[in-house]
Amino acid sequence: MPLMEPIIAPSILAADFSRLGEEVSNVLRAGADMIHFDVMDNHYVPNLSVGPLVLQSLRKAGMNDPVDVHLMVKPVDRLVEEFLTSQPTYISVHPEATEHLHRTLAMIRAGDAKAGLVLNPATPLEVLEEVLDSIDLVLIMSVNPGFGGQSFIPSSLTKLARVKSIIDQADHEIRLQIDGGIKPSNIGAAAAAGADTFVAGTAIFASPDYAATISEMRQQITLATQV
Ligand code: DX5
Ligand code: ZN
Repeated sequence: MPLMEPIIAPSILAADFSRLGEEVSNVLRAGADMIHFDVMDNHYVPNLSVGPLVLQSLRKAGMNDPVDVHLMVKPVDRLVEEFLTSQPTYISVHPEATEHLHRTLAMIRAGDAKAGLVLNPATPLEVLEEVLDSIDLVLIMSVNPGFGGQSFIPSSLTKLARVKSIIDQADHEIRLQIDGGIKPSNIGAAAAAGADTFVAGTAIFASPDYAATISEMRQQITLATQV
């Protein structure tokens, strides 16, 4: 597979929700490639965030940029259908949150989105091999899902490398995304371990200069991956 251009996807969870539209356009103007949309239901994870109406509003307001929807909800299928109406680039689901993972992934692709499989820190990799043909992205959680601002779990690096060697066997492009506690000081290590798509909430939205932080992240990725 050819080398994939790195994607930086700020998580809206860390944005100022009273000015969400403005925050999204500011972070895109600052160089973000994609918006990471964290959806939580106070059931699959112990927190509540935003639903499909919020993405629909952003689209109505003219936001046409790529969005990846990270669904931390159980059951998940009905919300997959709802989000498919807002032209997401990716929808990612946790295997623990659906009774029929293969069907859920097929539903995402049938709705013209790319399908992502999310692996929690304690989720074994077995399921990945079973659905390799049905996915376009693997999201490795480097924190337990539910909250922004947590610390990166170091063993995620080994997991990234193990997943990278599996997805490299696929005969189509599968992106490798990392989510949780990503900041300029550890993004290089994630890139070196094989990640090509990087979610960062707090590190970007709590920084005084979004553009400077995103550009520092890009530099660290380049430094860590140049041969
Ligand atoms: C956690 C979410 C993450 C998180 C990222 O459940 O999936 O996207 O909000 O936020 P930071 O970068 O602050 O860890
Ligand atoms: Zn997320």
